[in-house]
Amino acid sequence: MIDLHSHILSALDDGATDVAVSIAMARIAVADGITHMACTPHIFPGKYNNSAATILPAMHSLQAMLDAQSIPLTLYSGADIHIAPDLVERLKNGEAPTLNRTRYFLLEPPHEILPPRLEDFAGRLLEAGFVPIITHPERLSWAGRHFDVIQRLADLGCPLQLTADSLTGGFGAAAKQLSERILREGRASFFASDAHGVSWRKPVLSSAFALVAGKYGQEEAERMFRHRPSAILSNAEPGEILPSPREVTGAGGEPGFTRRLVDRIFRNG
Ligand SMILES: [Fe+2]
Repeated sequence: MIDLHSHILSALDDGATDVAVSIAMARIAVADGITHMACTPHIFPGKYNNSAATILPAMHSLQAMLDAQSIPLTLYSGADIHIAPDLVERLKNGEAPTLNRTRYFLLEPPHEILPPRLEDFAGRLLEAGFVPIITHPERLSWAGRHFDVIQRLADLGCPLQLTADSLTGGFGAAAKQLSERILREGRASFFASDAHGVSWRKPVLSSAFALVAGKYGQEEAERMFRHRPSAILSNAEPGEILPSPREVTGAGGEPGFTRRLVDRIFRNG
């Protein structure tokens, strides 16, 4: 499986506290069947002042340590990026790393407050050629009350990333219910661990994979834990990443609104 959201790099944020924890996390991931992992420390101006300058050297250094210990985990660059007015500029100049230097990046909306005009902000990023992946919408405290915003972000062309532990109940009943709803409506693009350590927020995807496979079939689970994350790392067209919401298209229907809109935005490249 491929995990595109992790705080495995040490001492850059509230994730791994030291290199020993990073390596222990890598061993847990490999034992769980994870082969590829994006290193996505928080970028939160004033709190976690990360950039490509801190993230890339830490990633290369950890990869060298994993290789030296024959731990078969391939790392990719990325970041868990909070909203900020100058984000387009920082994505363009490379300061804020996208996932493996593709058009895709993790956008973490504020947990407690729905920012005004979040969809306009996402639209500007899309127009600039970047695709914001909305991280763990099911865990945002406002998402249940303002589910229409989550739906509109998805319709706009923002892939939704669910947290594996939300589906298994690790983040409580509300996050579990909301992740089930997003899945049921066919709006989830893929799952990730958002791992922070070796205790309760571990790099484990297999339990959620089993739940998705049990309810929606092996093929759908493969799409959400392997194929779409892989397509993101290779900068595939958004049409390959975005699901077709069940309510909008119906089985075998014409391509959904989301796909048509994204095809229009990206038709020139
Ligand atoms: Fe995160």
